[in-house]
Amino acid sequence: MPTIMLINLSYIVAAVLFILGLKLLGSPATARRGNMLSALGMLLAVVVTLLDHAIIDYRWILLGMVIGSVVGALAARLVAMTAMPEMVALFNGFGGIASLLVGWVALAQPQLDNFLLLTVFLSILIGGVTFTGSLVAWGKLSELLPGRPIVFRGQRLVNVALLLANFACGAMFVLDPQQPLWLYLTIALSATMGVMTVIPIGGADMPVIISLLNSYSGLAACAAGFAINNNILIVAGSLVGASGIILTRIMCKAMNRTLGNVLFSGFGAAAAASDKIEGEGTALSAEDAYYVLEAAQSVVIIPGYGMAVAQAQHVVKELQEVLQQNGCEVVYAIHPVAGRMPGHMNVLLAEADVSYDLLLEMDDINPRMETFDVAIVIGANDVVNTAARDTISSPIFGMPIINADYARSVFVLKRSMASGFAGLDNPLFYGKNSRMIFGDAKETVNKLIREFST
Ligand code: TAP
Repeated sequence: MPTIMLINLSYIVAAVLFILGLKLLGSPATARRGNMLSALGMLLAVVVTLLDHAIIDYRWILLGMVIGSVVGALAARLVAMTAMPEMVALFNGFGGIASLLVGWVALAQPQLDNFLLLTVFLSILIGGVTFTGSLVAWGKLSELLPGRPIVFRGQRLVNVALLLANFACGAMFVLDPQQPLWLYLTIALSATMGVMTVIPIGGADMPVIISLLNSYSGLAACAAGFAINNNILIVAGSLVGASGIILTRIMCKAMNRTLGNVLFSGFGAAAAASDKIEGEGTALSAEDAYYVLEAAQSVVIIPGYGMAVAQAQHVVKELQEVLQQNGCEVVYAIHPVAGRMPGHMNVLLAEADVSYDLLLEMDDINPRMETFDVAIVIGANDVVNTAARDTISSPIFGMPIINADYARSVFVLKRSMASGFAGLDNPLFYGKNSRMIFGDAKETVNKLIREFST
């Protein structure tokens, strides 16, 4: 049986592994190692905790490890790259419900003081919101629920009433823990609050809410850590809580929107009629586009959500190679919120084995944009919408964009003139140097590659 000192020392080692792991997750080149280190830290923390006071003997731990590893490996292998956001949503939800249950179980302790009861209430409140909120996010992402924001009159009032009622039940629970009614009411109200928080948020804003829920799941774990007096749960919970909120902030900043706007505005619900642009973009065939690309010295590829929809990343990599063989410099410009999850484009391009050093971030590519012969926009829309830069009345005015229009020529690969997630027309498509190459991105890129080989 490990001594208290040995347990706490192991917890410090686990905490160091978590922090190193988080640091390494900051770059695609070291992310795998970071993940392994964090997982190792968690394994150490779980094993040491379960051995503490002989809660469970090593045979059960081994069995748990085998079952957990098989489920984890299968999930990682079977889940499609495109379904990663859904999987993360479910992970958060499970974290939330786990904290809720740990908080609940903490009531079995013989001594229940007010601080402990408060931490139990907090783990149930935050864990419950995280659980049902994540399930709704998962439903929206997997299109089992409508992706558009669900809004109704008086929604905020209802949400405030739910919160106040929950606090009142929490106070009663702390004052009278023997009466189970308050506990059950708190669980029910928290679960309802989770649903109500996520339904007014549009499908493409789900990544923001998922990282916020991730932060909540950390806070819930932290509260549960206090409830059962477990140091490593408090540390791990705080790390998850803090990193989730940092990522949420980064995403909001990349869209020049406040968290309040993401949570309450029903963004993406409908296009603003005043932003409709009259006229047609100039269409170009893949055959004609080939002549321009054949002569180009430098090309920047700007991918967006449509590349993910078309699953075009492998053919895009092929096009890159064909252009390079033709003596052309090719780089990729990555907007922080292109696609539907943080790092979406990076993950897709990594899957196609595109070298990391060809991926340039928005702030690095924008000052060089004028020097490119061609910018190929592949299924991106909002992240290259020049209204965000030039039109003060635009709902997305101020959102930093990749200045595709500054390149000498712009080819836009998409199926129609339809708007992107924000529901707004894009003046880029009507620009003098812009040409629309209509069609599914994968098919169009394939056509371009074929032109090079004939
Ligand atoms: P969007 O603005 O959503 O535009 C995607 C475009 O892809 C659409 O206009 C669509 O046009 C085209 N498309 C769809 N399927 C296609 C296919 N098979 N082939 C070719 N084109 C296809 O995407 P974006 O530029 O990547 O911007 C992302 C949006 O999500 C932003 O509004 C951003 O704020 C929001 N968002 C993202 C995040 C993160 S972390 N990624 C977080 C919060 C919000 P057609 O229908 O005409 O083909």
